[in-house]
Amino acid sequence: MASEKSKILVFGGTGYIGKYMVKASISLGHQTFVYSRPINHKTSPSKIQLCQEFVSMGATLIHGELKYDQIATTIKKVYIVISTLAYLQVLDQLKIIDAIKTVGNIKVRNTFFKIFYVAYFVS
Ligand SMILES: NC(=O)c1ccc[n+]([C@@H]2O[C@H](COP(=O)([O-])OP(=O)(O)OC[C@H]3O[C@@H](n4cnc5c(N)ncnc54)[C@H](OP(=O)(O)O)[C@@H]3O)[C@@H](O)[C@H]2O)c1
Repeated sequence: MASEKSKILVFGGTGYIGKYMVKASISLGHQTFVYSRPINHKTSPSKIQLCQEFVSMGATLIHGELKYDQIATTIKKVYIVISTLAYLQVLDQLKIIDAIKTVGNIKVRNTFFKIFYVAYFVS
């Protein structure tokens, strides 16, 4: 049976764990979005290279800060959200959850909040 394709947004996708999430999502044929902080003079060459690799694989990069309005605007484009943000950004994930609740196009099915990552799946 063919699996259903979706639109998946990954927060923390450039990270140690997130990059595997992003690559898996792309390889499974999902339209994949990576929400990442803007590139500036402090950005490491390895992160820039990884972002370029994601784009070459077909992902869409969305640069933004972990601010509610920017997050909510982005979440409107997708049906599934995965967060693999760094441990110190655990509380920032509350903004993601608030945006998901407000936007309303994503139904909460599983939450591994504060444990490993946060995943929300459409019905
Ligand atoms: N690494 C492990 O071995 C391991 C093991 C078990 C559990 N975990 C858990 O898995 C989750 C992800 O861990 P990880 O090691 O993959 O994370 P990470 O590589 O340290 O960071 C993931 C992403 O978080 C974003 N980020 C980092 N600092 C930020 C900041 N100050 N503001 C906003 N965004 C920031 C970055 O994305 P952008 O730069 O693209 O914005 C980064 O690529 C954490 O909750 C961790 O506790 C990790």
